[in-house]
Amino acid sequence: MNRFFNGWFRKKQQDGMTTMAAASESSREGNDLSSDNVPRHVAIIMDGNGRWAKARGLPRVAGHHNGMKTVKRITKAADRLGVRYLTLYAFSTENWKRPKAEIEFIMKLPQEFLSLELDELIRNNVQVRMMGVKDLLPDFTLSAVEEAVRRTADNTGLVLNFALNYGSRMEMVESARKLARQAAKGELDPDAISEADFGAGLLSSDLPDPDLLIRTSGELRLSNFMLWQLAYSEFWFTDVHWPEFTEDHFHEAIREYQRRARRYGGL
Ligand code: FPP
Repeated sequence: MNRFFNGWFRKKQQDGMTTMAAASESSREGNDLSSDNVPRHVAIIMDGNGRWAKARGLPRVAGHHNGMKTVKRITKAADRLGVRYLTLYAFSTENWKRPKAEIEFIMKLPQEFLSLELDELIRNNVQVRMMGVKDLLPDFTLSAVEEAVRRTADNTGLVLNFALNYGSRMEMVESARKLARQAAKGELDPDAISEADFGAGLLSSDLPDPDLLIRTSGELRLSNFMLWQLAYSEFWFTDVHWPEFTEDHFHEAIREYQRRARRYGGL
């Protein structure tokens, strides 16, 4: 089966969409893209929620709430295209510096998102994961995410990985500590430590490195996101703010990715 006909899209067909409607939907949904060069892992820095809200005279949290709707839109878009892993930077270890009310609002979003979407994610075989430090997360946030992780653990479709209370330097320091502890106990020869050993100590150890990084809202920086894992990823930036990032924008990013020659330092 064509990989564009997987997941949510196949579900629409099962729900009785006519072949014609399905075909026209398919062309809108990016079948001008090459199906054999879809990035396996797409990571996104979802930025610009606050500015999107401010431009509309709304409180910043309205931007985060609309950003949650974009999470659904892009999860579906990624699944339709056959992306295998989608990592979304939802909250960094530095975001605790924000006003308390904004943090509280963001912390409620996983619960709201999952109460609305978990059943559909399950129906579409999506596996939910979390990448981040569980400490400091409010109980209601952690329990909603853990329930979703538990209920989708056996799903074999798109992996939807939320980076929540995530910081890349922190995870690298933690990986170094693990190796140092093993070395101090004489279980590991420091000179034998490999890149794979270091990677195995990271929170992303069971994921492939991202092929494509997207950052919305015009900022050109990594903000402590997957610094190790993005070593050879392709980067794509857009001025569009996350709440108004559409499936078409996503396809634009994939199209550009498909034009790139990945050389990994070679020729
Ligand atoms: C950055 O925009 C965005 C965040 C720190 C929060 C991102 C969270 C979501 C998009 C919702 C997540 C949803 C789920 C389901 C986990 P910003 O506030 O820094 O925007 P600004 O740069 O314009 O101020």
